[in-house]
Amino acid sequence: MKAVVYHGPRQVSVEDVDDPRVEAPKDAIIKITTANICGSDLHPYEGRAQLDAGMVLGHENMGVVVDIGDAVDRIAVGDRVSVPFNLACGTCRNCVEGWTAACLRANPSGSPGAGYGYPQMGPYWGGQAEYLRVPWADFNLLKLPQGTEHESDFTMLSDIFPTGYHGTELAGVSAGDAVAVFGAGPVGLMAAYCGMLRGAAQVFVADFEPDRLALAAQIGATAVDVSKTDAVQAIMDGTDGFGVDCGVEAVGFQAHDPSGQEHPHLVLDDLVQVVRATGRIGVVGVYEPEDPKATTEGAKEGRYGFDYGLAFTKGIAIGSGQCPVKRYNRQLRDLIIRGRATPSFIVSHELPLSAAATAYDRFDRRVDGYTKVLLHPDQ
Ligand SMILES: NC(=O)c1ccc[n+]([C@@H]2O[C@H](COP(=O)([O-])OP(=O)(O)OC[C@H]3O[C@@H](n4cnc5c(N)ncnc54)[C@H](O)[C@@H]3O)[C@@H](O)[C@H]2O)c1
Ligand SMILES: [Zn+2]
Ligand SMILES: [Zn+2]
Repeated sequence: MKAVVYHGPRQVSVEDVDDPRVEAPKDAIIKITTANICGSDLHPYEGRAQLDAGMVLGHENMGVVVDIGDAVDRIAVGDRVSVPFNLACGTCRNCVEGWTAACLRANPSGSPGAGYGYPQMGPYWGGQAEYLRVPWADFNLLKLPQGTEHESDFTMLSDIFPTGYHGTELAGVSAGDAVAVFGAGPVGLMAAYCGMLRGAAQVFVADFEPDRLALAAQIGATAVDVSKTDAVQAIMDGTDGFGVDCGVEAVGFQAHDPSGQEHPHLVLDDLVQVVRATGRIGVVGVYEPEDPKATTEGAKEGRYGFDYGLAFTKGIAIGSGQCPVKRYNRQLRDLIIRGRATPSFIVSHELPLSAAATAYDRFDRRVDGYTKVLLHPDQ
């Protein structure tokens, strides 16, 4: 089959690899109809997270089941499915409690949490390919209505729609709240959108990228252009000096200033300032446990020096981590089916798999309006 193969920083290519096949009785094989490129894919792409050469990339996958192992009985050949980016066993203590992002059995390294085509997440090939092997298929796969309707909405269910929702869940967004989202990438835009779905009175979205800020404004958020204005000042002014109830961090460890200079603690510091005393922050932007190219000595070892003293003084609750997709994906699917959510508004490009290398390059440089790329292997 054709697949997007990682060879090293900024080196990805579409090439022939072996077809995946059923290896264990609980496996399913999916024919991919859509696989997205994610901001998280840029961490190995930029060489900021170590990934073995030869890995097939892609953790945002959906498609149609074409083969199943003998022990699969809930999912059938022909089912249209969304594949959560977390690969989880379904029976360990964390899975049973709904924390599939911290599955204790799926990652052979022993670390909690496994996924497809991603650093430190196990040996599992990703789905930027014609086919994908899904272990523990009955537990992991979410069934979708047959056909092709809502394809570009449903494809957001594997990661960023639930991840945006998780950010608002960690931040406890409820009706009437004021919310500040940092980062207007796909995750930040989904967090802002989920803030709206949960009834926030006011949602601010801070970033530098004009096309991304325009999408934030399009869904009714207040866009804060960090290249022209001080985000903290703008959000304090916009809340009559009170600050927001909830903050969502959707930038991660490569937070930078308008000149491009990285300050890994920058956005966490801003959030601690704009969230009111006793408010809440959800951190879904990734902070790597090690980053040899970090701009501070601490961040090289995963020690991020943000203003914890002020956070403590204000009694701010901070939640963080990978999204347990399965906790939210069925409900978010039903919002799409019932016409209450259309997360596809962020899609900027739909391309054949063969265009993946160019798409990675442009998405990484954030040029030509590359906000969210959907790859279609059958085009
Ligand atoms: N927790 C999870 O489960 C999960 C899932 C998916 C993605 N992620 C992470 O979420 C983060 C965002 O993902 P994405 O796909 O939207 O990535 P992205 O790289 O497309 O977007 C990040 C955005 O942050 C902006 N930014 C940088 N510095 C900023 C600053 N100081 N203030 C405001 N904005 C700033 C950038 O301009 C960019 O638009 C990444 O770290 C990604 O790895 C986490
Ligand atoms: Zn992703
Ligand atoms: Zn598990």
